[in-house]
Amino acid sequence: MNAFDESGNGDEQPLKHQRRRRYSGTHPKNFEEKYKEHNITAYPEIREHLRAKGKTPAGSHIPVLVEEVIAYLKPKSGEIIVDCTIGYGGHASEFIKHIGPSGKLIALDVDNTELERTRSRLSGESVPVSFHRSNFAGIGKVLKKENLDGCDIIFADLGVSSMQIDNPERGMSYKNEGPLDMRMDDRLKQTGADLLNSLSEEELSEAFLELADESDHQKIAHNIVTQRSEHVITQTSQLVDLIFDAKGIIKKIWRQERRTSKSNSLHPAALVFQALRILVNDELGCLRELLRVAPYCLRPGGRIGIISFHSGEDRLVKHSFRDGVRNGIYQSAVEEAIVPQFEEIHSNPRSASAKFRWAIVKSL
Ligand SMILES: C[S@@+](CC[C@H](N)C(=O)[O-])C[C@H]1O[C@@H](n2cnc3c(N)ncnc32)[C@H](O)[C@@H]1O
Repeated sequence: MNAFDESGNGDEQPLKHQRRRRYSGTHPKNFEEKYKEHNITAYPEIREHLRAKGKTPAGSHIPVLVEEVIAYLKPKSGEIIVDCTIGYGGHASEFIKHIGPSGKLIALDVDNTELERTRSRLSGESVPVSFHRSNFAGIGKVLKKENLDGCDIIFADLGVSSMQIDNPERGMSYKNEGPLDMRMDDRLKQTGADLLNSLSEEELSEAFLELADESDHQKIAHNIVTQRSEHVITQTSQLVDLIFDAKGIIKKIWRQERRTSKSNSLHPAALVFQALRILVNDELGCLRELLRVAPYCLRPGGRIGIISFHSGEDRLVKHSFRDGVRNGIYQSAVEEAIVPQFEEIHSNPRSASAKFRWAIVKSL
């Protein structure tokens, strides 16, 4: 067996043997200590154990709606597919099986760490795969670099991966203590902390309302502006605390009630974290641009499929496809969003809010 990076970076490259850092207790609790989960292919029993409990092993990602994506996008031998959000490569691995060695997969992601890991994971495939660290808004430039006038399928699985959300260093989750970074692309200039400490109260309030329907948007924005004049807000826990404070919820009591009622209600900080992450990464702006250029990047009869997890994103996709059909750009598009079946939600609760929509460009 190879010795793997036990720092927990999830790097599956063989490394010189290093002694594993000790963790307290019998099982590792911290993300970076879960060395078996970070190298899950070498520990299938751990994967099975976690999956049976509806959990995602640290450092990996469970692709959603895979069967539906394949059934509606119908990848065929020899086709060219652009996976705009390669992530862990879950959907891509399925596409590869259908397009075969005469096809080509073009993989995009803004997150270089995940892009490189997936590159090494898919390196043994017989299908040509080319990787581009690129925002999907720039799909046209990527096709140009590849000397292609178009592709057969464009696919995007929006938002963040489990690896990004679970890694405390990324600052995307209210569950983990960490720096409020929130950037998927570390070339971006502004982090979540930068925005929290610089936007006006009105701008923050509007973002929490517009991007996440947070009903306490004004109180939370006010609390942020008041508190940041005393201490710069840099950590996830600071933001969580001031949201509880703005909502008048006592954390200890909330936790007790949650435990006893076993309710699965949304965490009080969930919506603000979502809004801030969408803002940092300009997720709606990038999606608008992808939807605008996609029909010109597809060959006649080409298909586009998008999975979203946010109502604002789903609305953009729905309207773009509907307008495309009305204007004669698309020959057809799905009427109702396709959502996961009960079994999928049960085995992967993170799939619960997924919505998949597809459209087909006019044939010649
Ligand atoms: C939900 S994950 C994709 C998971 C992937 N389908 C799989 O099965 O492993 C979303 C990925 O898209 C990337 N991403 C998000 N917005 C992007 C954008 N505008 N351009 C390129 N990549 C983006 C994220 O960095 C993340 O790795």
